[in-house]
Amino acid sequence: MTSQDPTTAQGSTPVVELVGAGFAYEDGPAVLSGVDFAVAEGRAIALLGRNGSGKTTLLRLLSGGLRCGSGSLRLDGAEVAYDRRGLTRLRTTVQLVVQDPDDQLFAASVAQDVSFGPMNLGLPEEEVRLRVSEALEALDIVALADRPTHLLSYGQRKRAAIAGAVAMRPRVLIMDEPTAGLDPHGQERLLDALRRLREGGTTVVMATHDVDLALRWADEAAVLAPSGLHTGPVADLLADDALLAAARLRRPWGTAVARLLRAHGLLGAGAAEPRTPEELDAFTGALVTE
Ligand SMILES: Nc1ncnc2c1ncn2[C@@H]1O[C@H](COP(=O)(O)OP(=O)(O)OP(=O)(O)O)[C@@H](O)[C@H]1O
Ligand SMILES: [Mg+2]
Repeated sequence: MTSQDPTTAQGSTPVVELVGAGFAYEDGPAVLSGVDFAVAEGRAIALLGRNGSGKTTLLRLLSGGLRCGSGSLRLDGAEVAYDRRGLTRLRTTVQLVVQDPDDQLFAASVAQDVSFGPMNLGLPEEEVRLRVSEALEALDIVALADRPTHLLSYGQRKRAAIAGAVAMRPRVLIMDEPTAGLDPHGQERLLDALRRLREGGTTVVMATHDVDLALRWADEAAVLAPSGLHTGPVADLLADDALLAAARLRRPWGTAVARLLRAHGLLGAGAAEPRTPEELDAFTGALVTE
């Protein structure tokens, strides 16, 4: 069901990978079955699918919080053992930020919360301090370091929760709907922070319902449809009307605009399509001055 396999596309072993993964909650029907999902180093992957399609479940399987009922989870090509050693290795590589920050934050202050993970790794105090300040800077919340977490706004709590994961310096940062509930400015700041993390080499997987965000941010998409998980380049998957209908997703504006521009001969077959209003402005500006 995988339309493009990053293993063969990039010729390298995925950092983390689900192979033939199946899962059902206790006494429940199968939520996922036969899922192949490879996360190649350096990618930005958007996971899409309707409510209840299994996005959160898939992310929890990928980060080891849930264990596959069938199939396996692999880290750097080797099957993950769900013992203490295997899970520690997984958690220092892969970090999951859950959707609701209140399920993640528990310490009295932001800095204390962010320091919890690195401290648990047994790192020296100096190293913990460095990681905390680096994570607070990455998420642009240095000014909130000493604030009680329960007094923060929702968007601030969301960024504090992400900082906690970033302080673990994961190779793969997995986020469950990180932009839900953020205002447009907060979304842009989060995308800036993710851009900086990606420049530093972090791989990012994000579940989202926002197809426009997926198109502009991700390079790869994973779409959960009744027929299974479909993966491939984001622009291809989000231009597949049959898949969008099956997954009950809306067509992104960027895809609709690109179709119109191509129909009028204004955009070449292989040319980059404008994916944001700003890119469309720049594109039309260039057309006028041509
Ligand atoms: N702890 C649980 N126990 C039993 N069933 C669960 C549990 N968590 C989720 N489910 C069920 O598993 C299915 C997949 O849920 P999941 O939360 O993975 O979907 P999702 O794609 O993340 O949805 P949403 O877009 O609403 O966040 C749903 O049918 C849900 O009711
Ligand atoms: Mg979910």
